[in-house]
Amino acid sequence: GLVRKPANIVCSISDDRGAEATYAGVPISEVAKDEQLGVGGAICLLWFRRRLPPYFCKFIELCMITTADHGPCVSGAHNTIVAARAGKDLVSSLISGLATIGPRFGGALDDAARMFCEAFDLKLTPEKFVEKCKAEKTVIAGIGHRIKSLDNPDARVVLIKEYVKKHLPSTPLLDFALAVEQVTTKKKASLILNVDGCIAVCFVDLLRTCGEFSRSEADDFVTHGVLNGLFVSSRTLGLVGHFLDQRRLKQPLYRHPQDDVTYLA
Ligand code: ACO
Ligand code: LMR
Repeated sequence: GLVRKPANIVCSISDDRGAEATYAGVPISEVAKDEQLGVGGAICLLWFRRRLPPYFCKFIELCMITTADHGPCVSGAHNTIVAARAGKDLVSSLISGLATIGPRFGGALDDAARMFCEAFDLKLTPEKFVEKCKAEKTVIAGIGHRIKSLDNPDARVVLIKEYVKKHLPSTPLLDFALAVEQVTTKKKASLILNVDGCIAVCFVDLLRTCGEFSRSEADDFVTHGVLNGLFVSSRTLGLVGHFLDQRRLKQPLYRHPQDDVTYLA
């Protein structure tokens, strides 16, 4: 009889075999025409393999818009600018910037979701959670910012909080994270719930309350890295912008000023 050749690749998000590609079974022409979907809806089809409610799609777009860029001084933009000025091509300069995204910068979302969920699910009080992290010598992912603080609030965090408060009947994990912020900011005004932490806890509240996922499905997305994926996707827009900007401005090779280095040798 016929022996089926085993496939080398398994794919469950898109299909290019018909006249037009589909995302989670939805033809791209339909994705493009459906005003309820937009970029956020296309992301939901590709990442969650289903249509999600318009408020969910719009939340993703809000995160993309607000975190696309944060100026030239942050780690990612700085690296992209230095690489572009060294004459590197677009993809290399982009990779150089993206490579800085990690536990301290822009890549704290999945850990923040995991840490806040664990503490919340264990019913720890905010004080106990902060004490536990201190005893374990662990920084709380999603807390702290270099320039934003209680006195200089982060507009992105304000917008994201307002959005979920308006669209969700309850936001238990965001509320817990805000209670943790009350504790950490007593130590230092810069230990606020930062944009990584805010997106992370709001996203978990959305995943857990939208009625589209079981609890374990929702938790698996976080374990697999969907939240850092969101920051990486949005910051790519800004990094490409910085590369183009350097090219347009014909910026020469960058060399760091010696008077800005403490030489210990
Ligand atoms: N949890 C608990 N304590 C903290 C945290 C935290 N997340 N961040 C800083 N602290 C403490 C430090 O231990 C230090 O305490 P000490 O004075 O007793 O030694 C004090 O606060 C000051 O710490 P610094 O390292 O000077 O803070 P800095 O401003 O340099 O760090 C940073 C900022 C890197 C964001 C830091 O707060 C951190 O690592 N946060 C967790 C990671 C994170 O969420 N990153 C995403 C930032 S947003 C973005 O990148 C888009
Ligand atoms: C960012 O979005 O890049 C920032 O929050 C990081 C920073 O230090 O401003």
